[in-house]
Amino acid sequence: MKNFSNISVIGAGYVGNSIAVLLSQNYNVSIIDIDEEKVRLINSSNSPINDPLIKEFLESNKSRLIAYPNLEPTFGKTDLYILALPTNYDPKGNYFDTSILEDTIDQIRINDPKIPILIKSTIPVGFISKIRSKFPEIQIIFSPEFLREGHAIEDNLNPSRIVIGDNSNLAKRISELFEEIALNDPICFFLAPEEAESVKLFSNSYLALRVAYFNELDSYALNLGLDTEKIISAVCSDPRIGRGYNNPSFGYGGYCLPKDTKQLLANYNSVPQNIIGAIVDANVSRKDYIADDIMKKNPDCVGIYRLIMKEGSDNIRSSSVQGIMKRIKAKGVRVIVYEPLITQSQFYGSEVFTNLEKFKDSSSLILANRMHEDLSDTTEKIYTRDLFGES
Ligand SMILES: NC(=O)c1ccc[n+]([C@@H]2O[C@H](COP(=O)([O-])OP(=O)(O)OC[C@H]3O[C@@H](n4cnc5c(N)ncnc54)[C@H](O)[C@@H]3O)[C@@H](O)[C@H]2O)c1
Repeated sequence: MKNFSNISVIGAGYVGNSIAVLLSQNYNVSIIDIDEEKVRLINSSNSPINDPLIKEFLESNKSRLIAYPNLEPTFGKTDLYILALPTNYDPKGNYFDTSILEDTIDQIRINDPKIPILIKSTIPVGFISKIRSKFPEIQIIFSPEFLREGHAIEDNLNPSRIVIGDNSNLAKRISELFEEIALNDPICFFLAPEEAESVKLFSNSYLALRVAYFNELDSYALNLGLDTEKIISAVCSDPRIGRGYNNPSFGYGGYCLPKDTKQLLANYNSVPQNIIGAIVDANVSRKDYIADDIMKKNPDCVGIYRLIMKEGSDNIRSSSVQGIMKRIKAKGVRVIVYEPLITQSQFYGSEVFTNLEKFKDSSSLILANRMHEDLSDTTEKIYTRDLFGES
């Protein structure tokens, strides 16, 4: 017997889309997003996210997946709500802004109070406990999501683990939902809500730590005129260290690592710590170091080759090159941009070029967080720390 018949996923970003598309192999799934363009794309079997595998799933499951621009059509017709909504970091409050999640939970509570809610958004430690005491009548469970942008389907088909912040019968049914999708045999952890919330923030902070560590190694080697590539290759040959997340960059970036490290630091609150704060600070120091290194080259005009964080990304959220751009512009250097994802002619006052050749000709130095064959004829102008050609 199936665990649920009709499932509603709210938020058609990376997380919501990949989950909805995969669940629609076995269930009737509604996906709700306030962005009407995303709704239109899904209803015409097109993907609003960049993922090499999603199209085939969208086409084969189209009879079981329908998108809506609001929640109304789903009320009274859903057995489980899955929330994959943004939790952006609010620099003023020094905490995640969870207002979209809270407003949506409130709407469900008013209109469909008996239906359980699963949160897949990344949340601060203590959020579930807070929301359960605010709305004791609803069943609400958190399960962290570990997918990578650009590999959302692949990662949900082969999850490294399933973590559920609850031990109830509902928690077991939810874990079965994700085990059904998986092609592998993932280990399942049933934890306290605060433990599951911590797992997500500590996982991403560890990844950020690794990036920051090898970036700091690179700053050190650059300063002493040593060969970073050789040092990292030899360091990472130790299987206890391994090769993952060791390719130097302008800093860790993208939607999740910058905000999740800051949220974990905020959750430490009065708990003594040295490392978590250092992960956040290290990313600032790295960008300062890279910007100073660029300034030593006295460039007339710096070209930014792509604002995205890495190859295959379809958005420019919190990419580290934007931090470098801000720093060198503050020193009076002219900066131009090549970013096909941007349609406007200016980005924070910098001219956006649509013609790659003109962009290359107009730049005296080109910054590339990640190298690309587009730049293979201009290698003498390139400034990158991408040593291994990996993301
Ligand atoms: N992107 C990742 O790789 C990743 C991985 C793991 C966890 N997460 C977490 O999952 C959450 C979602 O991430 P994402 O990358 O999918 O976000 P996203 O910004 O790509 O997608 C969120 C979607 O929610 C929609 N939305 C906003 N307000 C809404 C509302 N009131 N009602 C309905 N839809 C609304 C937006 O239009 C958007 O399409 C975040 O908490 C993030 O930290 C993201």
